[in-house]
Amino acid sequence: MKILFVCLGNICRSPAAENIMNALIERDHLSHSIQCDSAGTAGYHIGSPPDKRMSAAAQKRGIPFEGEGRQFTRRDFEQFDLILAMDKSNYKDILRLDPRSEFGDRVKMICSYCRKYRDQEVPDPYYGGEEGFEYVMDLLTDACEGLLQKLKPQL
Ligand code: 4NP
Repeated sequence: MKILFVCLGNICRSPAAENIMNALIERDHLSHSIQCDSAGTAGYHIGSPPDKRMSAAAQKRGIPFEGEGRQFTRRDFEQFDLILAMDKSNYKDILRLDPRSEFGDRVKMICSYCRKYRDQEVPDPYYGGEEGFEYVMDLLTDACEGLLQKLKPQL
């Protein structure tokens, strides 16, 4: 099972989701069954390391943080079983690259897996303060736990 997390810049939210998911996968000894990656719909941060504020919020929770910005491409539709958008604008931008609607079933909103939070989107923390990054960590941890529980019977 290959999962791709997608946001706008691939330096805050989608690398956070990827690293949180990897920590849960390792906790549950599922590294042989699930692989994760992340990408951004925009190309502003290609080759950049993750945002330091996002990385600090993750490390505070004991989650190691790795990544290098890359842009989502059409080829990702074929390479991943599940493509998870952080917000509605990411979702639209992803589907715009699938004009014949061949891969729409693979694209979902990450918040649809939340169990505690009622948010429909992961808010973009880039222009805000530290609390935005903390909130993204809590929200994505809930979403990734829900996602992992949902995937387990299919592994
Ligand atoms: P992300 O956050 O989509 O969660 O990685 C952003 C990163 C960079 C920008 C916007 C959002 N930017 O405009 O450069």
